[in-house]
Amino acid sequence: ARPVTAPGAECSGGSTGICGIYTMDQEMAAVYKEVCAACHSLDRIAWRNLIGVSHTEAEVKALAEEFEYTDGPNDVGDMFQRPGKPSDYMPAPYANEEQARAGNAGAYPPDLSLMIKARHGGADYVFSLLTGYQDPPAGVEIREGLNFNPYFPGGAIGMARVLYDGLVEYEDGTPATTSQMAKDVTIFLSWAAEPEMDERKKMGMKALTMLTILTGLSIYLKRHKWAGLK
Ligand code: HEM
Repeated sequence: ARPVTAPGAECSGGSTGICGIYTMDQEMAAVYKEVCAACHSLDRIAWRNLIGVSHTEAEVKALAEEFEYTDGPNDVGDMFQRPGKPSDYMPAPYANEEQARAGNAGAYPPDLSLMIKARHGGADYVFSLLTGYQDPPAGVEIREGLNFNPYFPGGAIGMARVLYDGLVEYEDGTPATTSQMAKDVTIFLSWAAEPEMDERKKMGMKALTMLTILTGLSIYLKRHKWAGLK
């Protein structure tokens, strides 16, 4: 089982405990798939993006095949249904914004691909939003169909609380507390917003190392080799 971590226990980088290079695993994708995907889309992530990150190729093929995609036109000009392939993008729960609003009392569940980058506070905001539902303070009236959440600008959000202790079952036995699930899905969404982050940071380290060596070398050359040329 994964160590059960309190938010922020691993580093001092804010309430989500996400700092620097993170590792994503299957369990982290599970909360998104089982809870959020019922209402939100993740348009910029294709199944194949999960290969080598949280799933193996065989697992990704099996995941994609659970969904039907419309393809075509075929030789005779017809559209047809086929099981998903790793190259397909994650399916959206609704056909368009109108259908999404109709299913959510007029509120529109936004695409979550870039949510972590789009909102002030990023991962900390999403974590706080998911765990921050509470009763409105005395004197505050919340309109029917909205929910009080002090982290949402304005305080009244169309999304009800979705995470409750024990909602998903982690295959590795980690207790599914609300904060554990919120943290996992926040890490998953952070990865989705910047799938190239690990690579970029590793490349940054390499670049810095090379530049440090080259700086040292040029100082040495300037002082010792060229000194006699004056
Ligand atoms: C809005 C995350 C599950 C319906 C949002 C927002 C985020 C979010 C970050 C945007 C808040 C903002 O605009 O600043 C999540 C995550 C989920 C999840 C991480 C899974 C753990 C769901 C589910 C539903 C839903 C299952 C439907 C039952 C909505 C709606 C809005 C929304 C309707 C728009 C609210 C408004 O603008 O008032 N969600 N969500 N969400 N979500 Fe979710």
